[in-house]
Amino acid sequence: MKRTSNASLKHLNSFAVEAQADQLLELESEQDLEWFTHQYRFDPSHDLILGAGSNILFAGDIDGTVVLNRITGKHIVTDSNDEVLIEACAGENWHQLVLWSLDQGLSGIENLSLIPGLAGAAPMQNIGAYGVELADTLDSVQALDLKSKELRLFKAEDCHFAYRNSRFKSSDAGRYLITRIRLRLQRNFTAKLAYAGIGEELQAMGIDVPTARQVSEAIIQLRERKLPDPKISGNAGSFFKNPVVNITTANLLKNEFSDLPVYPLNDRQAKLSAAWLIESCGWKGHCMGGAAVSDQHALVLINKDNATGNELLSLAEAIRESVQHRFAIELQTEPRIVQTL
Ligand code: FAD
Ligand code: EPU
Repeated sequence: MKRTSNASLKHLNSFAVEAQADQLLELESEQDLEWFTHQYRFDPSHDLILGAGSNILFAGDIDGTVVLNRITGKHIVTDSNDEVLIEACAGENWHQLVLWSLDQGLSGIENLSLIPGLAGAAPMQNIGAYGVELADTLDSVQALDLKSKELRLFKAEDCHFAYRNSRFKSSDAGRYLITRIRLRLQRNFTAKLAYAGIGEELQAMGIDVPTARQVSEAIIQLRERKLPDPKISGNAGSFFKNPVVNITTANLLKNEFSDLPVYPLNDRQAKLSAAWLIESCGWKGHCMGGAAVSDQHALVLINKDNATGNELLSLAEAIRESVQHRFAIELQTEPRIVQTL
């Protein structure tokens, strides 16, 4: 276990904004977890669990402890004819887990290639991309109840998964340290190519009937082209969720703005493209202090020039107000915002 006092968090968040923590506690083994469970009193009003920091914005310092769960390990649990259950410890890198699953001849999470972050954070917001969500393959989540110190097992149906949401991000925020996840993957591959752009990317690669690995490669290429690289321009991916509205509102907007992308979810609801709403308000590429809206993707706020967390928040607020004013749509933030704890 590593302990550091008065630690900078700048290299532990993909926005690369400066913030300080009184203490950094890095759990590296099951023994460390055992110690943490029985000896450490986690206080969610001062302490914070951090993964790879790719979905968080620090707008203040942490007066308590930042806990990093870096325990790694992954294996196949059961292997029947087609369905294979795998388990990964929370400290595994998500993208490396996807590549490992492909190496085992397994499919199911290839569309989630190149999402930054650790496996332990994946259930938090039910990571999703290119027509697939974690919830589609997740079997269960093992988590430590930070209050009762009990280890709990949540089956997928008990995680309350929704679009970019789960019980861990909403009703139970700050209560659990996720320790392991289990996924149900397939040996027989069924490609999921409905999301706009995947088919075209595969065609450009000269592939008609793709393997799971080729779908992964196509998605990696798409993502590298569309999204700014956090190593060059600090960012946390999409800063806002795509708004979910009722069908009547979606139809009214579509009548007025015919090129607005609208994705029907069911008979009653549809998702709108937040990127389109933001770009239509003229924000793409716009700078405010050290913060900016990426000129590559309007939904991504970037740390352009030594931005503070508060500068990024001010830009986000200005965007939210203008989208509200023009379209009467309220944008919701996707990353966790941490004010001083
Ligand atoms: P962190 O940012 O460290 O933490 C996020 C939240 O989870 C925090 O509230 C933290 O307290 C909590 N947390 C982390 N680990 C644990 C744990 N073990 N136990 C309990 N709580 C924990 N997301 C998508 O869904 N789809 C995308 O396509 C996507 N693309 C992205 C592209 C870029 C360039 C970037 C920078 C981000 C993108 N994201 C995307 C967001 C991000 O990658 C995911 O949300 C990811 O799961 C965050 O993982 P992390 O380890 O960095 O979590
Ligand atoms: N668009 C614009 N301007 C832009 C970019 C996009 O108008 O600058 C419009 C285009 O019409 C495009 C549409 O928005 O067709 C959708 O764009 P894209 O395919 O890039 O997807 P998104 O809705 O912007 C969502 C997720 C991403 C995920 C991609 C791919 C959310 C909030 N974001 O973005 O997730 O990778 O789909 O599935 O749901 C993240 O959560 O951090 C993230 C990056």
